Amino acid sequence: MNISNTKLIGIGALFVVIFFFGFWLSRSGKPYNGLLFNLHKLIALGTLIFLGVIVYRTNQAAPLDGLVWAVGILTGLLFLGTMITGGLLDIDKPLPAVLATVHHITPYLTVLSTAVTLFLVFGRKG
Ligand code: HEM
Repeated sequence: MNISNTKLIGIGALFVVIFFFGFWLSRSGKPYNGLLFNLHKLIALGTLIFLGVIVYRTNQAAPLDGLVWAVGILTGLLFLGTMITGGLLDIDKPLPAVLATVHHITPYLTVLSTAVTLFLVFGRKG
């Protein structure tokens, strides 16, 4: 198994864990279990950092083209949007329902955009 495959499996496994804790949080409801909430949040942050390091190091080895940067930045923004809506959901005040709806949709967009980013980053090596 080469290094790219290991990284792909690593990112995939992190998303499985994030989704697992996310659905668990949704089912258990408010007030959210602190351990579950923090695991969900920190693993999401770790995944974003891991992805950022992959893109940065690949760019150091051979500069990435504009399309890869555009998709990579979109992925970063989707991660941020998911993190912001997730963080707001924990606030102890009545919240607009749209916030939860957004946090139910953006995770799938984040996974899709991450997959396209990794495909472009690793795919160009052939
Ligand atoms: C890439 C990042 C993330 C992904 C992929 C993700 C994914 C998910 C998913 C799939 C759910 C279940 C939604 C459903 O029931 O349909 C969920 C729920 C939740 N997530 Fe995230 N999440 C991410 C980041 C975060 C972060 C950073 C926080 C907090 C700062 C957070 C807080 C929550 C909360 C509070 C819930 C429960 C929502 C509810 O009660 O329905 N999430 N997440």
